[in-house]
Amino acid sequence: MIDPRPLAIVTGASSGIGYELARCCAAHGFDLLIAADEPAIEEAANRLRLLGADVRAVQADLATRAGVAALHAAVGERPIDALLANAGHGLGKAFLDQDFDELRHVIDTNITGTIDLIQRVGRGMRARGTGRILITGSTAGFVPGSFQAVYNGSKAFIDSFALALRNELKGSGVSVTCLMPGATNTGFFERADMLDTKIAQSDKDDPADVAKDGFEAMMKGDSDVVSGWKNKLTTALASVTPAELLAEQHRRMAEPGSARR
Ligand SMILES: NC(=O)c1ccc[n+]([C@@H]2O[C@H](COP(=O)([O-])OP(=O)(O)OC[C@H]3O[C@@H](n4cnc5c(N)ncnc54)[C@H](OP(=O)(O)O)[C@@H]3O)[C@@H](O)[C@H]2O)c1
Repeated sequence: MIDPRPLAIVTGASSGIGYELARCCAAHGFDLLIAADEPAIEEAANRLRLLGADVRAVQADLATRAGVAALHAAVGERPIDALLANAGHGLGKAFLDQDFDELRHVIDTNITGTIDLIQRVGRGMRARGTGRILITGSTAGFVPGSFQAVYNGSKAFIDSFALALRNELKGSGVSVTCLMPGATNTGFFERADMLDTKIAQSDKDDPADVAKDGFEAMMKGDSDVVSGWKNKLTTALASVTPAELLAEQHRRMAEPGSARR
């Protein structure tokens, strides 16, 4: 039987930008396979079903190969029309003060698990000659992130990887788009233990607006989108600012206690 509706996988869809990306997909006629690590993914699935989509939820730690394999296995034989690889998290404080297992989980989620899933799904898309991949990178990838050094490094990897993969898939029928949000109003900063930083206390973008930008760019097949005009300006300036100065500016925003200065 041919499914009349396209299928999208959205990772990190229990909250924030990922939940809003899943909402965009559902509103545009996609069925959904959504994933996150905590039981909240089931509540997100229930809310998304109200939009008329067929929604399945998988609870899996996408920092592990077993978690990624479980998500991929849940697809079964149905072709995947869109992969929105969005799951990720940060970790504040100075690198030497971070717990190694925690910082490794950032790398394993944001980089290893993300590219593992993209490779598994991307091979099927290439074989069928069609598909859309949206990867959530970050404007953080443009800046050496003092007091979030591993996170910013992980997003520099993702921003670069997405554009390289896009080029490799030129002419294959598979498009790759990188969504690069700036600071966005989600649970991100609390989870990263950064609530006492200036960046966590600053004005932030609405995750629904960010997701809309990403979804539209993916549907157009654009290469990348920096969400919001302020972030477009910041990233343009970052490309002509000495890296040492960028690292110092990041310290002022992300150093523990900076919210009180
Ligand atoms: N908020 C910002 O300022 C900002 C800016 C630029 C880019 N981003 C990126 O945007 C993406 C979404 O973040 P957000 O801001 O929307 O934060 P969020 O509300 O905390 O959402 C993160 C999502 O990723 C999931 N996730 C994290 N680690 C996971 C793992 N190992 N396995 C499975 N799921 C995992 C979370 O699920 P669980 O709770 O179940 O773990 C949650 O659904 C991330 O890639 C982030 O780096 C955020």
